[in-house]
Amino acid sequence: MMQISWNCDYRKSSWRIRKHLLCSVRCALCCLCITALFLVSLLQTGRIDKSYPTVCGHTGPVLDIDWCPHNDQVIASGSEDCTVMVWQIPENGLTLSLTEPVVVLEGHSKRVGIVAWHPTARNVLLSAGCDNAIIIWNVGTGEALINLDDMHVDMIYNVSWNRNGSLICTASKDKKVRVIDPRKQEIVAEKEKTHEGARPMRAIFLADGNIFTTGFSRMSERQLALWNPKNMEEPIALHEMDTSNGVLLPFYDPDTNIIYLCGKGDSSIRYFEITDESPYVHYLNTFSSKEPQRGMGFMPKRGLDVNKCEIARFFKLHERKCEPIIMTVPRKSDLFQDDLYPDTAGPEAALEAEEWFEGKNADPLLISLKHGYIPGKNRDLKVVKKNILDNKPAANKKSDLINAPKKAADASNTQNEAKLDEILKELKSIKDTITNQDERISKLEQQMAKIAD
Ligand SMILES: *[C@@H]1O[C@H](CO)[C@@H](O)[C@H](O)[C@H]1NC(C)=O
Ligand SMILES: *[C@@H]1O[C@H](CO)[C@@H](O)[C@H](O)[C@H]1NC(C)=O
Repeated sequence: MMQISWNCDYRKSSWRIRKHLLCSVRCALCCLCITALFLVSLLQTGRIDKSYPTVCGHTGPVLDIDWCPHNDQVIASGSEDCTVMVWQIPENGLTLSLTEPVVVLEGHSKRVGIVAWHPTARNVLLSAGCDNAIIIWNVGTGEALINLDDMHVDMIYNVSWNRNGSLICTASKDKKVRVIDPRKQEIVAEKEKTHEGARPMRAIFLADGNIFTTGFSRMSERQLALWNPKNMEEPIALHEMDTSNGVLLPFYDPDTNIIYLCGKGDSSIRYFEITDESPYVHYLNTFSSKEPQRGMGFMPKRGLDVNKCEIARFFKLHERKCEPIIMTVPRKSDLFQDDLYPDTAGPEAALEAEEWFEGKNADPLLISLKHGYIPGKNRDLKVVKKNILDNKPAANKKSDLINAPKKAADASNTQNEAKLDEILKELKSIKDTITNQDERISKLEQQMAKIAD
């Protein structure tokens, strides 16, 4: 069993945080910081500068975001405004607020609470909304290619792709976990009353194809369970934890098979190793701190410092701060610890979107972390809208309907001039903002210098 220690690198001042967030955007690997970026404008936390650059194109609050696994600069967001947007963060970070998404995906009739990129196929994005529908998009063409709108009768709490992206599993308010083949539009397995309590559940696929769930018992105890989707009758393992009421959010590392459980509002992270020997879910340890977490982000494996034997990095969201929590395995040797770092999912997509939609599957393409991860040059995300007159076969009727308004808008040419005017105006206002910000920053720097003295 693995021994893990941790340390906290606490950054207190909002100014430092601001810098920290910006460089996180620059390295573009940390999931929560960008959430914080999205959140800053929503929570109106006061002390964080209003002129702080954010990603803000939605007309409603952002409910979920997901970094693209195949491009460190691309991020998808789902919003209360019923749309999904995909953003390209500039390579050197956000210096100005980003208001123009690369693409807007319209198709949900209610707010979109979940967005999740396909693990191995480029440009395939899943979204789930409060309309109880799941839509799978080809982001490269802006098309909704799969619409699963008759499988869920109640709110979807969580959706997870399996390792090669052939299946998804969902946890829903009706207490069911469903395993779905999205391309066949078929439910291949389901479990009723996965956890009997009424409070929210989570379900995630593990690398070996089993499903890990968290939820509540009828007596409101927090539970975790392990299931084999080929036989969902009885769980492989079921553990009771305690009677706190924060939903347990699982964060999973497929390389070490460790699951970190962060309870909403808890101040601790408990972690477990999953093996194929009883009791299957082995408690390892608990990281504790004083302040409760409002949210938690998880750094992808390739963003970790292998020289320090770092095996996980979390970003804990406080009201105005984002605190990194770094978990390391204490080792004396300076050599690369290959037992801690088996080859991990790299940034190359194994398939193109079209191949996946046609039925192909592939496991993630693995990379070695032996010499650290050097981010490659990301290609720009380009969206090529299909021609409206290019008639598609009947199978795609639904997606044509979904895209109809956008396509009609594309057709109009006369709007271009007005648009140019608008852009010029915007450019001017951006210039003004830059000048203002420059002044502001130098003022703040002076103030900081004073405080530092
Ligand atoms: C499902 O829950 C897990 C754990 O909270 C989270 O990491 C993942 O992003 C969620 N998936 C979606 C699509 O919300
Ligand atoms: C993808 O995963 C599924 C489910 O675990 C498995 O049955 C299938 O063989 C895998 N396909 C490939 C090409 O790895």
